Amino acid sequence: MNIVITGASRGIGKAIAEKFLQENHRVIICSRDSAKLEALQQTYPSLITFVCDVSDKHSVEQLGDFVLQTFEQIDVLINNAGIFIPGKLTEEKDTVLEDTLRTNLLSAYYLTKKLSPRMKTHQHGFIINMCSVASIKAYENGGSYAISKFALLGFSKTLREELKPYNIKVTAILPGATLTDSWAGVDLPETRFSTPEDIALLVYTITQISSFSVVEEILIRPQLGDI
Ligand SMILES: NC(=O)c1ccc[n+]([C@@H]2O[C@H](COP(=O)([O-])OP(=O)(O)OC[C@H]3O[C@@H](n4cnc5c(N)ncnc54)[C@H](OP(=O)(O)O)[C@@H]3O)[C@@H](O)[C@H]2O)c1
Repeated sequence: MNIVITGASRGIGKAIAEKFLQENHRVIICSRDSAKLEALQQTYPSLITFVCDVSDKHSVEQLGDFVLQTFEQIDVLINNAGIFIPGKLTEEKDTVLEDTLRTNLLSAYYLTKKLSPRMKTHQHGFIINMCSVASIKAYENGGSYAISKFALLGFSKTLREELKPYNIKVTAILPGATLTDSWAGVDLPETRFSTPEDIALLVYTITQISSFSVVEEILIRPQLGDI
């Protein structure tokens, strides 16, 4: 299969890329960090990388053009790139909402619009959006992140209805705390978190079940609950 993953230089996106590569699929990833992408490409020679700032519409369109030139068919699009800036809606700078929506929501919207026409012609594919427990639950310090993730879940639900006739399956993944750079500096044992590999295995499995079913949503939390 041909897989596209945004924001996969580290964390959950990287774990998903590694899982698909281990299973011998062709993978394109993007991030802003060309050095990290080059290092990954050295480790995985078949990996295809593209430098892209998904908060910038023009950059997303360039990524989309690159994907359309590289893959004749797109089997799996994973809108994973995201930022988390904790804070309070009434206290944070206005730019926090604007930046967070561009990165966490509009990136998925623009890339999906760019790639879905090709997916429609093949009447096949998966679009997997990395939502969050914060898509369904409010936190005191959730700030603009929560707005973006509620919206991404809404986007996923609407997109699923729209793409059903084209046999394109849309899944929202809602992870709880997962041990990545997002949690750098937090003083908790690693056993308190889900692992990026847990999420990667679930994402991979979604793409393996029979064509008669769609996994609409997956909610996964650390065994001891939210942090
Ligand atoms: N970790 C958790 O507890 C958790 C829980 C629920 C949901 N999630 C969601 O899961 C996704 C991945 O989270 P993570 O914890 O793996 O994050 P992470 O470790 O901070 O990694 C984020 C990834 O996104 C990329 N990225 C960020 N902004 C970007 C931009 N403007 N353009 C291109 N790439 C960008 C980063 O690449 P560069 O910095 O190299 O550009 C990096 O590869 C996010 O959508 C997050 O909201 C995470």
